[in-house]
Amino acid sequence: MIKAVLYIHVLSATAWVGGSLLLFALGILLRDRDAQKSVYAHLGPIYGYFETFWLTLLWITGLTMFFHFGIDEAMAHAPGSHLASLMHTKLMMVGVITVLTAIHMYIAFKTHTAERTPLEHLVSRGSSMLIFLLNLVIVWYAIGIRDLL
Ligand code: HEM
Repeated sequence: MIKAVLYIHVLSATAWVGGSLLLFALGILLRDRDAQKSVYAHLGPIYGYFETFWLTLLWITGLTMFFHFGIDEAMAHAPGSHLASLMHTKLMMVGVITVLTAIHMYIAFKTHTAERTPLEHLVSRGSSMLIFLLNLVIVWYAIGIRDLL
């Protein structure tokens, strides 16, 4: 049973991180501004729902394994252990990307058919860049946790 949960977790991670890699690549490789605007206008909302779905699954399956493997107890009774510190950092990073995703989506939906202010532009760009970079680090931490279980 827990193997199926891990399977869904890893599948969700590939979809969540893969989606962000694709959009990052589009942002760099699609230089034509009109084409980029049009692609983002059509893809944006679908991408938003797609990513929210997989991030929700990551939380559900991640927390299921978290309690199944007793990581909650390890963190409570041995907070200085390697496992506890890796999990603590991973949870902090996932918490940050969840908040950033909510901010990013709020701006994206609010300004979908309207012009963005310079501040909205900066926050939107900055949050997606941070989410992208943190994703790469989270996968590294996930492997470290797996090694210890
Ligand atoms: C962006 C969010 C997340 C990503 C990209 C992610 C990614 C991954 C990946 C790729 C693995 C498999 C590592 C391996 O097999 O070597 C993994 C394992 C794991 N994740 Fe996550 N994860 C995320 C969120 C979470 C959350 C929110 C929790 C807990 C609350 C969590 C708990 C775990 C646990 C306990 C394992 C180890 C399970 C095992 O190896 O048997 N993850 N994660």
